[in-house]
Amino acid sequence: MKPFAFGVLIAATLCVANVFAADEAPKDTDEDTVKIYKRLIPADVLRDFPGMCFASTRCATIEPGKSWDLAPFCGRSTCVVSETNPSQLLELVEDCGPLPLANDKCKLDTDKTNKTAPFPYCCPKFTCEPGVKLEYPDVKGPEAAPEDDKKN
Ligand SMILES: *[C@@H]1O[C@H](CO)[C@@H](O)[C@H](O)[C@H]1NC(C)=O
Repeated sequence: MKPFAFGVLIAATLCVANVFAADEAPKDTDEDTVKIYKRLIPADVLRDFPGMCFASTRCATIEPGKSWDLAPFCGRSTCVVSETNPSQLLELVEDCGPLPLANDKCKLDTDKTNKTAPFPYCCPKFTCEPGVKLEYPDVKGPEAAPEDDKKN
């Protein structure tokens, strides 16, 4: 192959790659501003309704496998049967996690934050000056804390 033809081929390949990259770029704008944290806690169970989780924010009993919104708090819970002890019910709580560390280059985006929307859309959204990233306090990962496992 002549060097010239080779160069054209490379240019064409790079072009195709750029088109694909451009297609994928806009996706990660909103998603990474919403963080979901999960933790497992023992479920509330009423004496007269064994085998069901009690949702105090709804004042209702919920079957295992079903979820409910935690309004007026921003979160969602799911009733789950404990894998290690099937006679125990657990509540998988999902929420927006800790607030970011104070940063005067970022502010709460009151247009994008809708506190009455269902979880996770009620989570606070922040807008930062270009190049500024919010930092979050150090917390254990999205999985349940190991201490919770030992208690069960
Ligand atoms: C907020 O969310 C609720 C529930 O989805 C919706 O009815 C309402 O129109 C939303 N408000 C804004 C300002 O988007």
